[in-house]
Order: sequence, then structure tokens, then C-alpha cells
Amino acid sequence: MKRVLSGIQPTADSFHLGNYLGAVKQWVDLQSDHDAFYCVVDLHALTVETDPEVLRKRTLLAAAQLIALGLDPDKCTLFIQSHVPEHNQLGWVLECLAGFGEANRMTQFKDKSQKSGADRTVVGLFTYPILQAADIMLYQANRVPVGEDQRQHIELTRDLGQRFNSKYGQTFTIPEAHIIKSAAKINDLQDPNAKMSKSSASSSGVIDILDSAEVNAKKIKSAVTDAGKEVKFDEKEKPGISNLLTIHSALSNRAISDIESEFAGKGYGDFKSAVAEVVTSYFAPVKKRTEELLSDEAHLLKILEQGRQKARAVAAETLAKTYSALGLVPSSFKDK
Ligand code: TRP
Repeated sequence: MKRVLSGIQPTADSFHLGNYLGAVKQWVDLQSDHDAFYCVVDLHALTVETDPEVLRKRTLLAAAQLIALGLDPDKCTLFIQSHVPEHNQLGWVLECLAGFGEANRMTQFKDKSQKSGADRTVVGLFTYPILQAADIMLYQANRVPVGEDQRQHIELTRDLGQRFNSKYGQTFTIPEAHIIKSAAKINDLQDPNAKMSKSSASSSGVIDILDSAEVNAKKIKSAVTDAGKEVKFDEKEKPGISNLLTIHSALSNRAISDIESEFAGKGYGDFKSAVAEVVTSYFAPVKKRTEELLSDEAHLLKILEQGRQKARAVAAETLAKTYSALGLVPSSFKDK
């Protein structure tokens, strides 16, 4: 079985619809025919200043949501990044291999550091993609399911892996970005030409999956559409309606053409009500399950401990191989 690895940051109080349809849904599909490793990348979240209580809460919340959305801890390895110290250890090794200029070319770093200004940009934001490369190569992952915006980071990972292998001997599997073309690209409800994102200007265009049915129905009903009347998929002329059709189709599992014919001759109002119904009924059980999981923290931590053990076994082996290839002298101390 091919191995996949992916990670998600615990930086919000809820995943939004774009996170789910653009990424997590694919993670769920991949766990059935891949050896899948998924982690909540809490160390990456330290690159933006967060209140400790908030980070703690969001990390558990992220894990609970992933399970509620369909990740099965018996089918995949679900863990928290900071539980496996080898991420930082391999991260350092890769930092010593990456060029400063190479890291400086990462567009996500340029965007994020520009936004926050030079004196508020931490070094960790600069080395962020190198830690990400460690996340991936520690597990010898073949595929990395990510959105288009992560392509450059996967390219960097490949470059670092190839460089290491050619300098020190075959050590790392060179991963491929697994950017699923059919994955639904979900746009902002208020700005249907821009991607739905947690950093969007206003929250009214973003569907948080843990929000109440009322809030989400209201957001959908006030989604920006065009002045026409026809429910028809046309990304250029009707980006708002097309976005709602994409959302409906992805969650109801119906063809877009089928939905179009259902609403032929009906107005946008009816259509929006139907989309609201599809979205809220899809996520109601997810919200309930997430709350159940969070209400028994000891049980949730036990699930994550099971993941940590599986992850650590692989990570420790890769790190030992890496240290040995580099000529780092192993100590005579035996841990276990
Ligand atoms: N940088 C990724 C994002 O923002 C998150 C991430 C961290 C990741 N480590 C990873 C994704 C490893 C894939 C593999 O979406």
C-alpha cells in the first residue's frame, strides 16, 4: 500500500467548508486504500502567536473534528505533531541542508511575512516549510494530499530529499503532491471569485462546519449571486450560483446537471434554501459527534496515544537511519 501523509493546523475554532471539501474529505477517502498518516500540526501553529488555552482547545478540537468527519483511527494513524519529537529533530537536519535563498523563495512565507511586517515575523515562519518537509519524509510518504497552495512546499520537500539521498545515500522516499483535480474548490459566499479561507475579510462568506444550523442557513441565504434568475453552472458569469451548485453537489452526491434541472424555472430563493438544507443536515451529526468526543477528553487522548505510538515507530526508524547516514555517533544508551 502506498503511504500518504498530510497535516492540518489547529488555528481556528472550526474547520470551514473549504477545509472539508478541499482536503479532509479526500483524507477520508484515501484511508481505505492507503497507509495513511494524518497529523494535527500544532508546532506549525506556533508560527502565529496564540493564547496557550486557545491552542490547547483548538488542537483537541481539530482532532475531534477529523474523527467526526470520518477519519477512522483504526484505519489510519491520527496523531498530534508535537507528540512525536522526531519532527523537530529531522527538521533541524533538513534546515542544515536547505539553502537560505531556497527558503526565501517560498511564496507563502513572502505573503505571510509581508502581511504581518518584518519585526513581527518570526524565524519559525521562515523555516515552516522545512518542518513540513520533515513531517512528510519522516514517514517515507509516497503521496501528500494537499491543496494547490502547498505545491511549492512539496517541491521543496522533494528537492531536500533528493539532495540528502545523493549526498548521504538512499534514505528518504521522494513524495509526490497529490492534488486531487476533482476536489471541490469552494469559494467565499460573499466574494465568489476568491477561495473560502479563514483569513477572509469577513466571516459572513465562510461556512464553519461547527456553527449552528441557523447561522449557516443565514449565510447561505445571503450569499452573493448575480442579477439573473437561472440556476445554472457558469463560473465566469455566475460565480456565486456555481459555487452554491458545487457545494450542493459535493454534499448531496448528486450531479450538477441534476440539481440544475430540479431548479429550472424556480428562483434563487428556493435554490438557496435547498443548499442551506443540504449543508446543515450534512454537518448536524458531525457537530454532535465532535461535541461528544470533546466531552470525554481522556478517551480522545487515548485515541491520539494509539496514533502517537504507530507514528513514533516509523519516525524513530527514519531518524535513526538519517543520523547514521550523517555520521552522528549513536550513544550506547538503550532507551527501551
Ligand atoms: N502547510 C500545510 C497547510 O497550511 C499544513 C502542513 C504542515 C502539512 N505539515 C504538513 C500538509 C505536511 C501536508 C503535509 O495546509
